[in-house]
Amino acid sequence: MAEVNDIDLKEILDFGVNLSRTVGSVILKAFKQPKKIQLKETCADLVTETDQLVEHMIIKAIKDTYPTHKFIGEESVAAGLKCNLTDEPTWIVDPIDGTTNFVHRYPYVAVCLGFCMNKTVKVGIVYNVPNDEMFTAIRGLGAFCNGKQLQVSDETDLAKSLLMAEFGSKRDPETIEKVLKNITSVLTNPVHAIHNMGSAALNICAVASAQAEAYYEYGIHCWDYCAASIILEEAGGVIIDTEGGPMDLMARRLVAACNTSIAQSLSRKLITIEYPRD
Ligand code: IPD
Repeated sequence: MAEVNDIDLKEILDFGVNLSRTVGSVILKAFKQPKKIQLKETCADLVTETDQLVEHMIIKAIKDTYPTHKFIGEESVAAGLKCNLTDEPTWIVDPIDGTTNFVHRYPYVAVCLGFCMNKTVKVGIVYNVPNDEMFTAIRGLGAFCNGKQLQVSDETDLAKSLLMAEFGSKRDPETIEKVLKNITSVLTNPVHAIHNMGSAALNICAVASAQAEAYYEYGIHCWDYCAASIILEEAGGVIIDTEGGPMDLMARRLVAACNTSIAQSLSRKLITIEYPRD
């Protein structure tokens, strides 16, 4: 087992923040330029050359500075690397969370760096590049945005909640039917609204910032929410499995909320949409 005390988590955070700013300038430069777009698993699962370039820059910087650390990166997994989380110090990387936003120049695009040890997230950095918002957390030391401490909403009633949700990139009729059933079920709960930011990490940061009460998604990957999960937890919120159990980073589904009461109420409204594990 890797020893947490041997690693300076503040140093890890500073490294991650600097790296996010460095690659953030590359993303910002490319944001308004024409992009080369490729498809991954479905017609709505996009990747650009900037995703690949930025992931390459991040992995190189990690290898140069921490040669023994492991990593799991969205584009490296897409290129065939295994998504294998061990007890070793491991970086879980999404170079651009919100690639569809990036392609369409919708300004919610984040660099996500999660640092895990013994399969637990210890440090999270989510950098919303176009808005220059740096969300950070170290386990046990609170969550911050641009240095200001975050605290979740104190609402306990799902009916008085603003929800965030994403609907996945599958476009087959069976999946769409389940997606729509879940929307109907949640809207008739009722809730104040369902919003959709196009970035899983930024949806979770919205819950951490008390701008929304909860978020759910099926089809999400570990790199989309590893970093954001600790930011939410350190702001006082929770992430659970959609069936009500503890969060499972590789399960590709989650309910994130400002408290357990709202998380459990929301999970009871949802039917499962199956995805293979990461
Ligand atoms: C996607 C975004 C999107 C979510 C998808 C993610 P990507 O990440 O977070 O909001 O619905 O599940 O895969 O592909 O832009 O890194």
